[in-house]
Amino acid sequence: MRSLILVAVIGISCVGKQNGVPNPVFDKDIEPIIVQHCTPCHRENGGAPFVLTSFEAVKKKAKTIAKVTANRIMPPWPADPNYTHFLKENILTSEQIATIQNWVKQGSKPGKNPGKLLSKVTPFVSNLGTPDMVLDLDTVTLQQGDQDRFFLVKTSGRMPQKKYVRAVEFIPGQPQLVHHFNGHLINYEKGSKLDFTTQPLKVEMKYEESRPVNKDLNLMANNGIIPERVHSVVNYLPGVFGTEYPDGIGTFQLSEEFSIVGNDVHYGPSRKTVVDKSKIHLFFTETPPSRGLGELMLGTNGVSKIVPPLVIKPNTISKHVTEFTVPADISVLTVNPHLHLLGTSFKAYAIKPNGDTIRLISIPRWDFRWQYFYTFPTMVKIPRGSIIRAEAIFDNTDNNPNNPNRPPKTVAERFDYGGSSMRASDEMFQFIITYVAWQPGDEKISLKK
Ligand code: HEC
Repeated sequence: MRSLILVAVIGISCVGKQNGVPNPVFDKDIEPIIVQHCTPCHRENGGAPFVLTSFEAVKKKAKTIAKVTANRIMPPWPADPNYTHFLKENILTSEQIATIQNWVKQGSKPGKNPGKLLSKVTPFVSNLGTPDMVLDLDTVTLQQGDQDRFFLVKTSGRMPQKKYVRAVEFIPGQPQLVHHFNGHLINYEKGSKLDFTTQPLKVEMKYEESRPVNKDLNLMANNGIIPERVHSVVNYLPGVFGTEYPDGIGTFQLSEEFSIVGNDVHYGPSRKTVVDKSKIHLFFTETPPSRGLGELMLGTNGVSKIVPPLVIKPNTISKHVTEFTVPADISVLTVNPHLHLLGTSFKAYAIKPNGDTIRLISIPRWDFRWQYFYTFPTMVKIPRGSIIRAEAIFDNTDNNPNNPNRPPKTVAERFDYGGSSMRASDEMFQFIITYVAWQPGDEKISLKK
């Protein structure tokens, strides 16, 4: 009986809280929200264009903050939490949003001791601690007034013996300008590539071209063969810093001679002339890889066809689907939906042989700026014979503010991978799944590190 009353009371108080704290002050009601949800990026070297690390800084932006939090543009988290949850989910509750509204409407009152919590926020250095090895990327000079620029880059390393790597982290030199980095590992058999550390270390890619990255960056071994890549050993976007799985999962071997290749590094427009000197941190482990990571790619360049084919006629909104039947039991760790500028929504799920649905991810409002690798809190089992299905909607009309073509023109996917392309005429529809072969008990293994 007592617990029933308690439930009723909590229920009522929750309804009341939808309106937020009625007379909020900064130190008590706002500051904790900013520290938790905003300063991972809005701090020194954190990737956002300005810091929110003092009362004054937040107050100065108060009106915009009220706007972007109310329409859920900030903090950026495109995945629908009513569909599935992921680690590091960053979403404000309706109550927090209402509290921010009240605070701004009532003149952004400081409270007694504003800024105390914020003063403890330190500049971003690393998410994973002290690295065992640091590799420099070649410097890039960005000129004042530059628009977006794209580079293919490589950096190489040499060690006396093979090592196991548990995590790789990309550290942007100019975090406000580096928009994304996706790095692959190439392990060379010792002595198979005599000039693996030499030029070119970078090649600029013009917006309207696609380039043969293996040739441009001279990645072939001396016998002309390109060694296999370990895909996506590191992914970076503002706010997405190194990820690490539990011991033995996702670790991989590093040869004595190796290169890390980035195709591509994307720099945003620059207001002043600056030099970027980004770095790669490697973290070693003694634990050999016990369970290798697999990467399954559906859609463009992947294992499954897109239906109807991804050719989007001007002035149309079209829905496309891609399906893949899983040949063995797998445990999914992360998912990464990938579309370009015409994408407006994305959804993926698996249908088990018995007809049940396993939800994977839903992005009702696609935003090409925030293409996270979403990690599940615990592994998600997809049994053999299930159909993984991804659905995406593309808007190739003038109503899509991100449409790069005015007036709209036909946009299609390209298949000539091995290169990299940034052409405005290209669209992509990809769903990337990182998994391990299923083992009993996987659903209970937490992926939180
Ligand atoms: C994942 C990193 C990240 C987090 C977390 C984040 N921001 Fe941002 N924020 C950015 C980036 C990057 C931009 C620049 C946006 C762009 O270039 O499109 C930005 C832009 C903004 C802007 C300017 C928007 C405009 O239209 O001018 C405001 C205001 C803002 N953020 C407030 C916040 C607040 C408040 C929070 C927390 C509730 C927050 N942000 C959390 C990365 C982040």
